[in-house]
Amino acid sequence: MTDVLLKVNDLKVAYGRIEAVRSVSMEVRRGEFVGIIGSNGAGKTSVMRAISGVKSPSAGSITFDGVEITGLPSHTVVAKGLAMVPEGRHIFGDQTVEDNLILGAYLRGGRAKTQLAADTERVLDLFPVLRARLPQAAGSLSGGEQQMLAIARGLLSRPTLLIIDELSLGLAPKILDLLFPVLTELNRAGLSILLVEQMASYALQVTHRTYVMENGGVLMHGDSETLIGDPRILDTYLGHREAS
Ligand SMILES: Nc1ncnc2c1ncn2[C@@H]1O[C@H](COP(=O)(O)OP(=O)(O)OP(=O)(O)O)[C@@H](O)[C@H]1O
Ligand SMILES: [Mg+2]
Repeated sequence: MTDVLLKVNDLKVAYGRIEAVRSVSMEVRRGEFVGIIGSNGAGKTSVMRAISGVKSPSAGSITFDGVEITGLPSHTVVAKGLAMVPEGRHIFGDQTVEDNLILGAYLRGGRAKTQLAADTERVLDLFPVLRARLPQAAGSLSGGEQQMLAIARGLLSRPTLLIIDELSLGLAPKILDLLFPVLTELNRAGLSILLVEQMASYALQVTHRTYVMENGGVLMHGDSETLIGDPRILDTYLGHREAS
């Protein structure tokens, strides 16, 4: 068992002639809660897409749990224990909440019914509001509830690493005050988490380490506690961006 769970090495991602990610290296150690912050268009989602197998990188390598996963399709990556909550959540709005959850479990495959029921109970305990909504169409949920569903669905694939791209997107602060503590709780229970987050102040408070991405590269990285007091972070990411 290696201490480094996810290792991204000199990753490049391009869309035709657009080089969205020029060179990114980062890692998530076992049990860590790691954040990625950065301006719009910095390449954060592109890195996540490459990791989760949605987009093949043009160069570089990605290793998960000691195994090279570069360019492997999403379903293979999920089966290895890496779950992705994508930007925009991508839940199936015309299907019920329950069916969306079952799909999450199915993505990992090979689960006995009793085990699935127990796993489902556990995620519903984390997000009790979803319990009453199980028979409802997922599209009828509020934005916050949809984000809870997307996380719950990810958890049902029994991941070792949970990746969330823009947890806070479109959500009110009072919902975020509910969601962030759940992530902290999951991490304390042993889940490794990689969180892309535009609300830098939230991310820096809950994560152990943070990578700052700009223009397709990593501008800086370090302990979140240290970065939160760094004048460059204060000026660029904590302040006008969130006040606007
Ligand atoms: N499908 C695509 N086709 C062409 N260009 C793309 C595509 N997706 C992203 N890009 C470009 O790649 C660059 C990086 O985009 P990406 O979505 O990875 O950034 P991001 O950091 O996630 O931004 P945001 O904070 O807005 O989510 C941007 O210049 C974007 O316009
Ligand atoms: Mg993005």
